[in-house]
Amino acid sequence: MKTQFLLAILFAMLMVPLTLSAAPRQLIFSHVVGPDTPKGKMALMFKSLVKEKLGDRYEVVIYDKASLMSDVEAVDAIAAGQIQFAAPALSKFVKHTSKLKVFDLPFMFPDMAAVSRFQNSFTGQMLLNSMADQGIRGLGYLHNGLKQLSANRPFETPDDLAGLRFRIINSDVLFDQFQIVNAKPVPIPWPETYEAIKNDRVDGQENTWSNIYTSQFYKFQPYIMESNHGLLDYMVITNQHFWASLDEHDRRLMQYSLNMALEYGNAVAAAKSLNDRVDLRNMRGVTIITPSPAEKLQWRDAMKPIWRKYETVIGKSIVEAARAASVNQVAAQ
Ligand code: LMR
Repeated sequence: MKTQFLLAILFAMLMVPLTLSAAPRQLIFSHVVGPDTPKGKMALMFKSLVKEKLGDRYEVVIYDKASLMSDVEAVDAIAAGQIQFAAPALSKFVKHTSKLKVFDLPFMFPDMAAVSRFQNSFTGQMLLNSMADQGIRGLGYLHNGLKQLSANRPFETPDDLAGLRFRIINSDVLFDQFQIVNAKPVPIPWPETYEAIKNDRVDGQENTWSNIYTSQFYKFQPYIMESNHGLLDYMVITNQHFWASLDEHDRRLMQYSLNMALEYGNAVAAAKSLNDRVDLRNMRGVTIITPSPAEKLQWRDAMKPIWRKYETVIGKSIVEAARAASVNQVAAQ
């Protein structure tokens, strides 16, 4: 009897940890590209750092390749608190704020160092809070890189784009950027872009070396101009209430994990941009068009007049701060 009683106690003691240890809280991270891209690698790094730093209490569950939802839907899902993390391109917030349109202005940033200076500046950090009134909190920026133009036929000058259909992210700045050179902008969500390019629904598109290479757009649009005319970067966002509901210790560790993952993602983006550019240059059947400084000026002069329309929409001080970061080595205000 005594033995049975002791066994019962022992059994109960063994069961206690099992019944007390709850399943990890699942945190959904939705994005639209593959695991081999800067964003995909950053998300995987964030997942493993959260596990390392916060133990088994949380599990970051990644849905990549738009397997859960598109980026535009993800922004709404973040606002509604249905998912916890997303990293849409900065052009995909147009419905929620006009301030981030500064990142879409053509020929704003000469290189990625200027982009980093602006993102790290007071104004750049303030923009992380530009959607706070809608429950969206920006946690940090992730680079992909500067955009290049690609097309299914040779082109050299802005006039050569006349009448050509260009796939764009659905952003009014990007729409105007192509319309001003008499091209036909066609907004197409990312998950449909490959098919649209393959089936000649569009003649051209704009994207980074990394996306052109990884998504194999070069197979159908082998004429690629090294235009560096625009930017494709991302903002990692979360829901305000979810973020505020974390206890301070967890929130700090989660932000730390994200900061480390972003540093890693930015290093991947820089290396991948260099490598994919070289690989595309060496690829048979791909023609890289490198504009001379005079030709580059021609492109800039053709597209930059759209700035006038957006300066007041975005806010003059924001455009000024981005410009200052682009021309000065010192951090902008
Ligand atoms: C796009 O739609 O071109 C980009 O947002 C894809 C990406 O890298 O997220």
